[in-house]
Amino acid sequence: MTKQDTHTFSNYLKVVTTHIDLFLHVDFNTKTITGKAIHHINNLSQDSVFTLDTYDLAISKIGLNENEEPISFKLDNKNNTLGQALHINIKKDTKTVSIYYETSSNAPALQWLNSIQTNGKSHPLLFTQSQAILARSWIPCQDTPSVKFTWSANVTTDKQLAVVMSGIKQEAKNKEVSRFEMTNPVPSYLLALCCGNLKYKAVSKRCGIYAEPEVLDKAHSEFIHVEDMVTNAEKLYGKYLWEQFDLLVLPSSFPFGGMENPCLTFVTPTLLAGDRSLTNVVAHELAHSWSGNLVTNATWNDFWLNEGFTVYFERRIMEEIEDKSYAELLAYLGYRELLKDISKLGNTSKDTCLKLQLENRDPDDGMTLIAYEKGFLFLKNIELAVGRKRWDTFIRTYFNKFAFKSISTEVFLAYLSDELIKGDSELIKRINAEQWVYQTGIPATAILPKSTRFDAVKEFAGTYIADQTTKSAITNNWTSHEWVLFIMSLPNTMSISSIEMMDAQFGFSKSHNAEILFAWLVFAITNNYERVNPVIREFLMSVGRRKFVEPLFRALAASSKGKEFAISIYNEARSNYHFVTSNSVDELLKKEH
Ligand code: BES
Ligand code: ZN
Repeated sequence: MTKQDTHTFSNYLKVVTTHIDLFLHVDFNTKTITGKAIHHINNLSQDSVFTLDTYDLAISKIGLNENEEPISFKLDNKNNTLGQALHINIKKDTKTVSIYYETSSNAPALQWLNSIQTNGKSHPLLFTQSQAILARSWIPCQDTPSVKFTWSANVTTDKQLAVVMSGIKQEAKNKEVSRFEMTNPVPSYLLALCCGNLKYKAVSKRCGIYAEPEVLDKAHSEFIHVEDMVTNAEKLYGKYLWEQFDLLVLPSSFPFGGMENPCLTFVTPTLLAGDRSLTNVVAHELAHSWSGNLVTNATWNDFWLNEGFTVYFERRIMEEIEDKSYAELLAYLGYRELLKDISKLGNTSKDTCLKLQLENRDPDDGMTLIAYEKGFLFLKNIELAVGRKRWDTFIRTYFNKFAFKSISTEVFLAYLSDELIKGDSELIKRINAEQWVYQTGIPATAILPKSTRFDAVKEFAGTYIADQTTKSAITNNWTSHEWVLFIMSLPNTMSISSIEMMDAQFGFSKSHNAEILFAWLVFAITNNYERVNPVIREFLMSVGRRKFVEPLFRALAASSKGKEFAISIYNEARSNYHFVTSNSVDELLKKEH
């Protein structure tokens, strides 16, 4: 076997971690985590070296087996994307390797928020974001989704703060130490930690919300249907295998909508719209409990296996919770966003293939909507070709067969061929898997999403643009998704006075729904509607979600007067962002730090 994952230095095909015991101390004064990681290893090929990934970790000592017999090690030179290889000399019979280390105060996985940057403004907060290859900046590990291990953790920090992790909390023996366990094997990118002023409110026996007390009730009511989602997901594709499904609502600098950390999904507070309109993100992260966390992409080139399946599953859950038209609306909106991403990348760009080629690049470069929305379209097209019943049976057996394993696109395609297509030449042609996976753009034969609810939006937008005094009751029942599509349907040639009138009628600039406000601000920038500048500044100062921040800076940088404005905001806002967001914007605004 040759090594498939080019984003790890580890020799994971020869020596493999089966379990990690973590002993961590989180120090808010020095902004470091110090501790020890004990790797339990399986030396498959009797190798004499065990190589791990690290990123700016200071290693103080390494010892073998229970008595931690000191052993020599070597750190290679640093690669800016991948970090440094840590080579540890082991023996044939080495069972455990204990690594004492300290993180850098700039570790890219970690965001240290001072109290002002939190909701309560009274306590600091730390959270981690390990996906795709940032786990190595806080834990020395085989940082590849191809390796899965169980783990335990003992964490200490400031007495006033609560500690949560992506595992199951254990009974406290010593009140000062928080203990966690993960008894399912997981890849490193699913290791996560948060320390802050967090309280818990249960929704059901296995679901609940962690948040700062200031937003806990609001979050609890927004996510009150979470147990219902889990039950529906189980009905579709099998038992939920992670015991708890809790949500952690982070401060607004959290760089993603959601992150599927096992047992504890991390979410952005921008989901708290007050009307449960953005809870499909929760359905999405829940779906990862099967696609991603159970069956995992073997490398970041296979990222679509995680995200494409998850978007498909997310929409199936939303169809159960809401209805078919709602799922269709989400699919249509996703398709519109996909078209934008494809035109940004170029229709013949290799990055529009489902199977990516990210060698010698940052895996983050491949994390576009291709994996999500082209992945979804491919799977939806298979559903349409074979019928739902057959497709659902296939997915259920797929999750069973590859549970707790990591697989490549090729393994998936072989399984699809053996279990579903079974040599049916008509079906091979209709499914057209090779083209979907290895060719650029969207196949000409693709059946594309349609939405009757969107048709109604478009019709109203047409009438409204022709006559802005038009009133219609149809907007009364619109969800935020319809409003977003409405804004996306507006022409880029509207006069400032028409835009002003529209803003006064619909209150877009004052919207409390982050998706509506975001779509509106992009529209405003493109149309030089400068009255919203203070709103843009306020939004970018307070929200760190990359999906919003990056396109807004991009639109500003591309607009006639916006570049300077963008830079002036960014100089102030940058310190509020997590590394994954600032790294993208740095590149965009060509900022050197
Ligand atoms: N796992 C991703 C977030 C991610 C992707 C982190 C790549 C790091 C690298 C998560 O499940 C996700 O896709 N979040 C989306 C949710 C949306 C598609 C419903 C987001 O954050 O917007
Ligand atoms: Zn996802």
